[in-house]
Amino acid sequence: MEVGQLIAIFGREPSLSLWELSRNLGCADFEVATRDLAVFDSPQNLEVAELQSRSGGLVKVGRIMGVVDALSGLAAILEKNWPDLIPAGSTARVNFGVSAYDAGQTPDRHFRTALKRQAQRFKKYLTANHRSARLVESKESTLPASALVQGKILQQGFEILVLVSPQKLYWGVTLTVQDISRYGRRDFGRPARDSHSGMLPPKVAQILINLTQPKSEEVFLDPFCGSGTILQEAALMGLKKILGSDLSQKAVSDSLRNLDWLKQKYEPVDLADLQIFESDIKELPAKLKSESIDLIATEPYLGPPQKGRAIVGNILPLVSALSRQYIPWLEILGKLLKPAGRMAMVWPFFKVENHGYFLQLQQALPQTKLKIIPPSKHFLTLPWFRSTPRGTVLYSRPDQVVGREIVLLGKNV
Ligand SMILES: C[S@@+](CC[C@H](N)C(=O)[O-])C[C@H]1O[C@@H](n2cnc3c(N)ncnc32)[C@H](O)[C@@H]1O
Repeated sequence: MEVGQLIAIFGREPSLSLWELSRNLGCADFEVATRDLAVFDSPQNLEVAELQSRSGGLVKVGRIMGVVDALSGLAAILEKNWPDLIPAGSTARVNFGVSAYDAGQTPDRHFRTALKRQAQRFKKYLTANHRSARLVESKESTLPASALVQGKILQQGFEILVLVSPQKLYWGVTLTVQDISRYGRRDFGRPARDSHSGMLPPKVAQILINLTQPKSEEVFLDPFCGSGTILQEAALMGLKKILGSDLSQKAVSDSLRNLDWLKQKYEPVDLADLQIFESDIKELPAKLKSESIDLIATEPYLGPPQKGRAIVGNILPLVSALSRQYIPWLEILGKLLKPAGRMAMVWPFFKVENHGYFLQLQQALPQTKLKIIPPSKHFLTLPWFRSTPRGTVLYSRPDQVVGREIVLLGKNV
């Protein structure tokens, strides 16, 4: 690790965060990649705020500022550097916080206590020097995005990131934080919501789109668009040629309403080339030219909602039925995709008594002209990385029967 490098702080699903970051940066390996974060050299022309706002998997982005010889010296470092860390010219109260992250070694309870003491010592220093200060704290060893936003830390002060590695301690500052209220508005604030068919969280929709490495002029399709979550995020990421379709008329009208709302709310989205129409996926080859689509990001039918405890006797026939349904869908999407096209997809999987049941699609893949693009082999060896032997990544909550298997596919040409 070196001074000046950037720090990507991961969200609740670090495997997806790391995979998304690597696709966004076009980078197959990181010198440091833990469950908490990855450290990377800033590519030329990287706009950190843009990377932050498009990356569903990033909670914060920071920069390494220096090495801390001993944690007991952190307050002195802050006493020296704080005037450069607050917004230029600010005379307001200094709101600040400290977070400790695992950069190879997990900060333990003693470390957290000692870090808190250093933060309190620095606060006392500011007050003694007639500068009003507020230390924003949380029960965890790290401040969540909500604490940074509510505490106005980036507007009025700074957050110190302490990275703990087996060799050295580093300190850094937070440059950007996930705009949680904007995500909330895009999720819960939109006019049409369909909790019955299920809606993908906007952050996961962004991750799917980022996995495809989109370019703004490319043609994008979501053939199971539901209420339009993925279409919405694609438009916000600057994609212009966006196609959405769904079997259900209600889904189409929900998507249209949501996209129209987005346009009213977020001026910069360009929807001139947006088309949303009713169609069974089976009819798409008659409506769209073959090899006309660059990018697909989609979450198809995940099966009936699973309430209560599932039993293996019900899940096995469901897995077989869904697998039979998905194979012709994949064949169609394989035909629509251009030879250099990329497709990120959700496949449902089911958890019963701690065992995962996955769609049986692997044998049929060659006939679909598609192949799985796995995450970098460097990530597959990380003990916490939630990949499967077939090169997909799992996303699920412990209490849910239906999980999402995230799959990236390309043409098998
Ligand atoms: C899980 S939902 C997608 C939700 C969407 N990602 C969202 O966030 O709103 C799956 C969608 O697939 C649609 N669907 C199911 N079978 C289909 C088919 N054969 N052709 C096209 N759409 C289909 C359903 O109408 C439903 O809207």
